[in-house]
Amino acid sequence: MITDLWYKHGLIYNFSLSGFLDANGDGIGDLEGAHRRLDYLQGLGVTAIWLAPFQPSPMRDHGYDISDYYGIDPCYGSLGDFVEFSRACKQRGLRLIMDLVVNHCSDQNAWFQKAIADPGSKYFDYFIWADERPEDDEEGVIFPGVQETTWTYNETVGKYYFHRFYEFQPDLNMANPEVQREMLKIVGFWLELGVSGFRIDAVPFLIAEEGINLKDPQPAYGLLRDIRALAQWRKGDAVLLAEANIPAEKALQYFGDDGERLHMILNFPVNQALFYALASADTVPLRKALEASQCIPGSAQWANFLRNHDELDIGRLPEDQREAVFAAFGPDDNMQIYGRGIRRRLSPMLGGDRRRVELANSVMMTLPGTPVIRYGDEIGMGDDLSLPEREPVRTPMQWSDGPNGGFSPSKDPVRPPIDSGPYSFEIVNVARQRAAEDSLLNWMERIIRSRKEMPEIGEGEFCVLETPAHILALRFDWKDHLSVFVHNFEDRCCEIALDIGVAPECTRLRGVLSDTSFDVGEDGRYPIVLEPYGYHWLRAGGLEQIPQSR
Ligand code: NOJ
Ligand code: CA
Repeated sequence: MITDLWYKHGLIYNFSLSGFLDANGDGIGDLEGAHRRLDYLQGLGVTAIWLAPFQPSPMRDHGYDISDYYGIDPCYGSLGDFVEFSRACKQRGLRLIMDLVVNHCSDQNAWFQKAIADPGSKYFDYFIWADERPEDDEEGVIFPGVQETTWTYNETVGKYYFHRFYEFQPDLNMANPEVQREMLKIVGFWLELGVSGFRIDAVPFLIAEEGINLKDPQPAYGLLRDIRALAQWRKGDAVLLAEANIPAEKALQYFGDDGERLHMILNFPVNQALFYALASADTVPLRKALEASQCIPGSAQWANFLRNHDELDIGRLPEDQREAVFAAFGPDDNMQIYGRGIRRRLSPMLGGDRRRVELANSVMMTLPGTPVIRYGDEIGMGDDLSLPEREPVRTPMQWSDGPNGGFSPSKDPVRPPIDSGPYSFEIVNVARQRAAEDSLLNWMERIIRSRKEMPEIGEGEFCVLETPAHILALRFDWKDHLSVFVHNFEDRCCEIALDIGVAPECTRLRGVLSDTSFDVGEDGRYPIVLEPYGYHWLRAGGLEQIPQSR
């Protein structure tokens, strides 16, 4: 069978225009700047870009408060610049995925403004209203400590409107067929301008039928089916990547029957269990999380990540595990947020220990699914905890040791670059790491190349192999590929006898990243030696040795 599921073989790189590269010198990163860095991304091995929201916005939530779905915020450039950018991505074989933020809009959006100016207009029903303050108005608050309620009184209308997130982000009434039509129009519009898919924001809230039944909202999965049907009809290879922090059991509903609803879901349960494993060297919960996410339809795919633009959300871990992660990676109050998360970048959380940074990235790249890299993690960027809320992990990209880390010539950049301490742009930057052969950046480039040569990770069947708790060993099988990935979460050397299961033709496991190999012993097991925080990517000998494209 011919398979052409590009998202199963790709590597996604996420950034927001504002912090990437400022080409016109006004202090804000822009489309022209990102355009200039496409060759860098292609060289790194990226195959798809997930671009954070860039539509007109008052920017009170990093652009996730959209005031016009059909435009580009002038600070980033024009629609013309966008088409140039999407075209330039296409020319390099880079797919472009954009955020689809339609659970809510900005209160400055013309729809909301028209709704409050004239409650008799059709726009009134674009939102969700209540005459009295609902009793449960403090429940379901997403940003505790910052957001007080989910219902806010609007003076002009004399009613309360519903908002899952901040009060300046009124929820759109998805139960209204007109709103659904608008949403599909937005999807169609951007596909026409060259995007290859959408990272759909806040999916569980988007599909909760608040407008119909606030007390017992039923998921409206039909909405996901409609988006997929339209997107694929308009553009056959378009993908939907969901932000849905849901337990794995629910995921099957989100994916639907094969080819029906979402293509990809960001795997939050695996992300949280992975951070627990990094904190405690206990990989058992991670194995369980992986096994729970095993049986998904053929075209469905998990997206794996380490960090993103939000807090590291560990709210779904059992309390003792959550406490262990807080103690290891976010012990100070200032590092924690919303009672469930850590507002730090990967490298500082791992104490800047190169061995642990490699371990974390190596695991992420070899988990079943598609890897998603957060900009700056390829060079081990740090965070700025003096900034409010989730801003510490959104500091400008560090390109060089020049002014503002090469991000902008402006005296007043949109966010201050990190200019002191071990993560300052003078020390951690792309230019410096390009020149140093053993840098993290060059290691990332090499590992990404190998990842792309191993289609079995993205597309194959996997199983968790039996090992001591501090070791994670996964086996993948796909067509004539068999590979095994072993990671040691402890700070000590160890030797294990690995049983990879039935593999009759295989007698040797060869290293993919290094010139190592392990021969099968008489007991049918492979004696494998691991350095502290060490890892091996191994391919079965006797089978295909030379990387083979799909
Ligand atoms: C999820 C996004 O990742 C987050 O940054 C944003 O604040 C909320 N959705 C609201 O749009
Ligand atoms: Ca600019």
